[in-house]
Amino acid sequence: MFPMIIQAPMAGGATTPELVHAVSTAGGLGFLAAGYLSSAQLEEQISKTKALGTNSFGVNLFVPNEQSKLDEEVKTYERTMQELAEQLGTEAGIPRYSDDEWDEKIRFLLTLDIAYVSFTFGCPSKETIELFQQKQTKTIVTVTTLVEAQFAIKQGADGLCVQGLEAGGHRGSFEANQARATQKPLRELLSEIREVSELPLIASGGIMDGREIKELIALGAAAVQLGTAFLCCPESGASPLHKESLQNGSFTETALTHAYTGRPARGLANSFMQEHEDAPPAYPELHYLTQPIRKKAVQDRDTHVAAMWAGVNFSHVRVMSAGDLVKLLYQEAQE
Ligand SMILES: Cc1cc2nc3c(=O)[nH]c(=O)nc-3n(C[C@H](O)[C@H](O)[C@H](O)COP(=O)(O)O)c2cc1C
Repeated sequence: MFPMIIQAPMAGGATTPELVHAVSTAGGLGFLAAGYLSSAQLEEQISKTKALGTNSFGVNLFVPNEQSKLDEEVKTYERTMQELAEQLGTEAGIPRYSDDEWDEKIRFLLTLDIAYVSFTFGCPSKETIELFQQKQTKTIVTVTTLVEAQFAIKQGADGLCVQGLEAGGHRGSFEANQARATQKPLRELLSEIREVSELPLIASGGIMDGREIKELIALGAAAVQLGTAFLCCPESGASPLHKESLQNGSFTETALTHAYTGRPARGLANSFMQEHEDAPPAYPELHYLTQPIRKKAVQDRDTHVAAMWAGVNFSHVRVMSAGDLVKLLYQEAQE
């Protein structure tokens, strides 16, 4: 149903049309990340990808969650962030709810012939899935537990992206505030879901080389989705600070935190994460609140504050063009 190697959608700037094009040209499948983009920006990215000559690619969407009721907790955290912003010489953002232009993006994508759409943070309605299927668009739902997988199967998804605990970036869990006890490593989760489903499964989380790809295919995955492995490619839009921090040995560990956006996400473990463990799990309010702070931290090369998403195996990242990386991964997977 899809190529064996998939480049993960990475919202926030890491995924670029150039990255998607390079991956797809080398025989992988590139995914654009629609999260945080306006529908107009998404349209621009899709046009750019097509103009580069790539027509078979995916688009990933954030499924909106309900608005949190943590108003008081968010207000308290807002004061803490305002103090931090002042120290950094900037202003904190305004915490607010948003559905990430869900309806507009769905309406727009349904006017196009997109090869694949994937969803994270939830599962769309049966009707939405069917509308894409009528357009011959394959639908993939990101799942992080067996229960989520069973729900996505019931809703009629064509495939599941099985995201293990090792994964960089946000947990794609349906619940914004997922209980730690339900979070499982990739191999365990993949085996559990494989037992109950014949659907094509895409394994994701901590995969950095072809040897692991071969192993996961043997465990029942139809494909693999890699994010961190592509972050240091020249086509990646990750900031120079992020790219350097993945490579220069100044970080040795990753951690899960919800202090930046209100949803748990894995990144290079820094002092911001440690100092704000008590942040309220209010997504996307915290995303908007901390956005200017994160931006200023990157400008100032402040790795204590910058959010630098990464999977657990980031130290194995390889610096080469995305096309060469895809070819090397295929080659290693065949050895
Ligand atoms: C910088 C970054 C941004 C990400 N953004 C998204 C996103 O927008 N949508 C999504 O479904 N997954 C996103 N992810 C998660 C990936 O889909 C995937 O699960 C993860 O990269 C796999 O782990 P790995 O990074 O160790 O390969 C992101 C990951 C990273 C590293």
